[in-house]
Amino acid sequence: MSRLPDPTSILVTGGAGYIGSHAALRLLDSGCRVTIIDTLERGHIEAVEVLRGEGDVEFVQADCGDQAQVLELIDARSIDTIMHFAALCNVGESVEQPLRYYANNTGSSLHLLMAAATAGVPRFIFSSTCATYGEPGEEHLPITEDCPQAPINPYGHSKLLVEQALRAACTSARTAGRPFACAMLRYFNVAGSDATGRLGEDHDPETHLIPICLGAAAGRRDAVTIFGTDYPTPDGTCIRDYVHVDDLVEAHLAVMNALEDGDERVYNVGTGHGTSVREILDAVRRVTGVDVAGIDGQRREGDPPTLFNDPTRIRKDLGWTARIDSIDEIVETAWRWMQEHPEGWGS
Ligand SMILES: NC(=O)c1ccc[n+]([C@@H]2O[C@H](COP(=O)([O-])OP(=O)(O)OC[C@H]3O[C@@H](n4cnc5c(N)ncnc54)[C@H](O)[C@@H]3O)[C@@H](O)[C@H]2O)c1
Repeated sequence: MSRLPDPTSILVTGGAGYIGSHAALRLLDSGCRVTIIDTLERGHIEAVEVLRGEGDVEFVQADCGDQAQVLELIDARSIDTIMHFAALCNVGESVEQPLRYYANNTGSSLHLLMAAATAGVPRFIFSSTCATYGEPGEEHLPITEDCPQAPINPYGHSKLLVEQALRAACTSARTAGRPFACAMLRYFNVAGSDATGRLGEDHDPETHLIPICLGAAAGRRDAVTIFGTDYPTPDGTCIRDYVHVDDLVEAHLAVMNALEDGDERVYNVGTGHGTSVREILDAVRRVTGVDVAGIDGQRREGDPPTLFNDPTRIRKDLGWTARIDSIDEIVETAWRWMQEHPEGWGS
């Protein structure tokens, strides 16, 4: 097995989006060259403008499944690593428009992988999700990477298919003797904003609990609906594992630097403990000083009561643990950015 070249030039798909822009910033801060490909369908050119001031960034507005465009970029920018964040990620929308999700999340990823294989890019890191686990029973909590993957919506399934294709690509590279390594990072609930306040989270529509609660604190909505208050959890509301976006990005750098030829690594990325919906509301009230109203609502289809990660594997292999372990601190970073950008990136 040959050694992979050191990572220096990274193609960041979806780099105008929430997590991709945070990753791009961290890569620039560490001296890497960054090339972003994003359709801007859900991303923000304003985030790219911030990145431009931080180092060597090239931005192309295109679909990451456009093989000719990707091959041109790989060649022109001597890409040695692909971090693949681009995706549509609204679960409800994926139920309403499943084919759009399979075409974009699975189809474009396959074309991207083909371009990577054609050009011989040796390192590929894929943003997967705990949604690939579906509704794991209590016997699987905390969730390890060996928990059976049984997604219950097209979003989760569209991501699982990419994981499977990536494994096949690894096998085929090994058989052909072509240097290649990949990592699949299954994120739990990503939250917060860049600690330096340069970047933030802005989805439209926003489906993530913390920005929704903060939106209420900022007066953009009257109250927050709590979907289900009769779950078998201590306060009756759903429990999720919230990981700060900066910590998540550190996990990408750690795995990128650790990958060796032939590796096919899978890591869950979460803190290892859960926070309930009511606890998030309380944290938002503490941080903002606003008594955000919560309205008890019905359960949503397909919302498991409790999901949280077992972080053992990533800690043992990469020495990674979430640095920000307090929900108040996560909320504080998001609130800071929101106050500076009351209308999101368009402010
Ligand atoms: N946010 C979370 O809590 C979370 C949790 C688990 C997994 N993930 C995964 O992390 C990744 C990033 O999520 P995010 O919250 O930053 O989403 P986001 O919507 O903020 O960013 C995604 C970006 O990808 C772009 N994009 C979508 N399809 C594209 C395509 N075919 N070609 C080029 N660009 C395309 C969008 O325009 C957007 O800028 C996604 O793959 C998502 O599935 C996110």
